[in-house]
Amino acid sequence: MRQPIVIANWKMNGSAEANRLWVESFLNLKADLHCRTAVCAPFVYLSQMVELLKGTDVGVGAETVSVADKGAFTGEISASMLKDIGVTYCIVGHSERRTIWHESDENVAEQAEKLVAQGIAPVVCVGETLEEREAGKTEEVVLRQLRAVLARVPAAQFAAVAYEPVWAIGTGKTATPETAQEVHAAIRAALTEADAAAAQTLPILYGGSVKPANARELFLQPDIDGGLIGGAALKAEDFHSVCAAIDAD
Ligand code: PGA
Repeated sequence: MRQPIVIANWKMNGSAEANRLWVESFLNLKADLHCRTAVCAPFVYLSQMVELLKGTDVGVGAETVSVADKGAFTGEISASMLKDIGVTYCIVGHSERRTIWHESDENVAEQAEKLVAQGIAPVVCVGETLEEREAGKTEEVVLRQLRAVLARVPAAQFAAVAYEPVWAIGTGKTATPETAQEVHAAIRAALTEADAAAAQTLPILYGGSVKPANARELFLQPDIDGGLIGGAALKAEDFHSVCAAIDAD
């Protein structure tokens, strides 16, 4: 069956000292957790996080990756560089990347392909804007984003799909558990079309203003197998509480 996973997305937050304290607190708290966990951190802290979490079962992930392998791409980081320092997960297609850096469905698919070639598991983010939801296009958008990646990378190689309605990210507005479940079920159906066996085991995460107070009701839904957690992952105690909510499911 599916093994739940809760992934922290720190975005552009953290410092060497804050990260050290976060890991210390989380490792002290996590003995009672059964779910899998991982932390996605800014590039410059990834080596530090790999070192701090060495010998634990907490994974370390990047937040994006270049579509190029190497060469004259100032400021870019390749999948092979991530592999080189021991990173095992990477978020692709986060809505902030899609919106602010204009990453297309095709870019996101190429990133996933580069990661998988290096043995790094992509966390594939999909999600509609408020405008798209109001126009009744949620499923169309989410499945288009997902299928673009599936055209290049088999579902069995994903770490997870993360459904993150753009209107719920960092806004304090969470999708109701029923609304989220509806989209998760559509994602599961599309994955099943692509690979029925992989669709049964691949976790589909919900993301967007998940916090200790609302995590449990979301995680109780049959197709919500964990979360991608932004704001509430910045404090180890809150992240631990969110992880504990999936264990209680
Ligand atoms: P949030 O972010 O939990 O702060 O809404 C989630 C995300 O963007 O991954």
